[in-house]
Amino acid sequence: MLTLRALRPSDRDAFLAAVEAFRRSDPDWEFAFHFDPRADFDAYVSMLAAWRLGRQLPLPFVPNSYLVGVVGDRIVGRLSLRHELNDFLRQVGGHIGYGVVASERRKGYATRMLELALPMARRVGLSRVLVTCDDDNLGSVKTIEACHGVLDKVVPVEGEAPKRHYWITVPA
Ligand SMILES: CC(C)(COP(=O)(O)OP(=O)(O)OC[C@H]1O[C@@H](n2cnc3c(N)ncnc32)[C@H](O)[C@@H]1OP(=O)(O)O)[C@@H](O)C(=O)NCCC(=O)NCCS
Repeated sequence: MLTLRALRPSDRDAFLAAVEAFRRSDPDWEFAFHFDPRADFDAYVSMLAAWRLGRQLPLPFVPNSYLVGVVGDRIVGRLSLRHELNDFLRQVGGHIGYGVVASERRKGYATRMLELALPMARRVGLSRVLVTCDDDNLGSVKTIEACHGVLDKVVPVEGEAPKRHYWITVPA
């Protein structure tokens, strides 16, 4: 019942609702990158499509797929799949980052989004993905481990919680 797909122009209202929900519950967590709710939404969707192709990338972004988790007419979360790693992603961000709208948590959506992202990772040429999370983020730890993440190391991050580094082998 959850689908993971690229953002569409018709998602505008659902997307704005998810952005606003995140702003209220997790103001420091970036749900939408380089998003201005007052700017043209179709142009934003086009920009994300360009990023997927490695075009119009703001520094230091790498080519990435920005995907939304959709249930019925609601956007319940987002997942970004980075097609390659840079120094920051290798240390902190990993290949995949995700978040679920607070009112939609603990329904299995993060786990399902991560599962669905793995064949997509394969399609962009990845045979294994680095997924990181804060050492104390139990919901994320369980999400990654449910998707067969193998803990590689726990890395200290200045001024933040240590990051767990997991690798998930992408099914062929
Ligand atoms: C972490 C997050 C993505 C989990 O999303 P979710 O949709 O609630 O996760 P799921 O429902 O798939 O839950 C996965 C497992 O974690 C457990 N879980 C979820 N949130 C939890 C919490 N706060 N404390 C303890 N366990 C939790 C679930 O019960 C489930 O365990 P189970 O399979 O044993 O039942 C969500 O809390 C979130 O978006 N947080 C803010 C952003 C964030 O931290 N993103 C991750 C960055 S690495």
